Amino acid sequence: MAALLLGALLLIVQPHIVPSRPAVISKAEATSQSVQKELLKKTVLKNDFKGNIHFNGSCQQLPQTIIIGVRKGGTRALLEMLSLHPDIASAESEVHFFDWEDHYGNGLQWYMNQMPFSYPHQITVEKTPAYFTSPKVPERIYNMNQSMRLLLILRDPSERVLSDYTQVFYNHVQKHKPYPSIEEFLIKDGELNVDYKAINRSLYYFHMQNWLKYFPLDCIHIVDGDKLIKDPFPEIEKVERFLRLSPQINASNFYFNKTKGFYCLRDSGRERCLHESKGRAHPHVDSHLLDKLHEYFHEPNRKFFELVGRTFDWH
Ligand code: A3P
Repeated sequence: MAALLLGALLLIVQPHIVPSRPAVISKAEATSQSVQKELLKKTVLKNDFKGNIHFNGSCQQLPQTIIIGVRKGGTRALLEMLSLHPDIASAESEVHFFDWEDHYGNGLQWYMNQMPFSYPHQITVEKTPAYFTSPKVPERIYNMNQSMRLLLILRDPSERVLSDYTQVFYNHVQKHKPYPSIEEFLIKDGELNVDYKAINRSLYYFHMQNWLKYFPLDCIHIVDGDKLIKDPFPEIEKVERFLRLSPQINASNFYFNKTKGFYCLRDSGRERCLHESKGRAHPHVDSHLLDKLHEYFHEPNRKFFELVGRTFDWH
């Protein structure tokens, strides 16, 4: 009986799934939005949208907060650190609901089925770093829940490029496949190759504009990924405040591991570091080429700072 009552309550408090309009949208965007709305309506109806309820009173809920990126910004560290909080329930793997057409076509019921079981007082979080740079995603998230609390973790754009390259390099190594040197990606006809995808992903100003068409700045909390590496606790405290969580994570939840060269987590006496794929050494890049990269990001960074009303300690 108690579980039934709880279920009824949860269905009432589900986030808005009826889309409404953002503040400023163009005609083309309006057309695309109405197509999205139709698709969403269809998938909602098709799936007879329902929350799954466990006998112990926990249930699967749509996320109330999403870590949207940026890829290689420190998204895993952020999720693991935030999960130290008892009121956080996080999806284990990256869901790619809003950016992969086949997943999105499965509808919200499918999306909810990917979520962990949680109690009503908990906040469900998923992280898919590719969302930040996928043009369709902000509108789709907005259509699902316009009061979504978004978390974005950014780090020095040049450093992020090197980290991006390193990840793909190791993916190839694991498959025993060759991979070109970073210089081969960064240079084209003697100039910086600005078509390199990893460079585009670091153009935070460009991608952020897309999000701000749908969500006001106070719904998007930006975590400083460089600070999270050097001193995670103050950054996590800010996230707790943004999500209106009681302050439960504390400094003793983090300790610096000299061997790893990064902070690791301590939870109820258990200590653990992030997977070895997090915190890898980056390739050496000629200083002249690095200067070019820093110079290239200078103007988009300035515009980004202006856009978000905040500066970061980037090259
Ligand atoms: P590098 O491996 O290039 O150093 P993501 O989880 O988004 O893929 O980001 C990976 C990055 O998280 C790592 O990039 C690393 O710098 C950063 N990071 C932040 N805090 C970390 C921590 N405590 N342990 C390991 N990596 C951490």
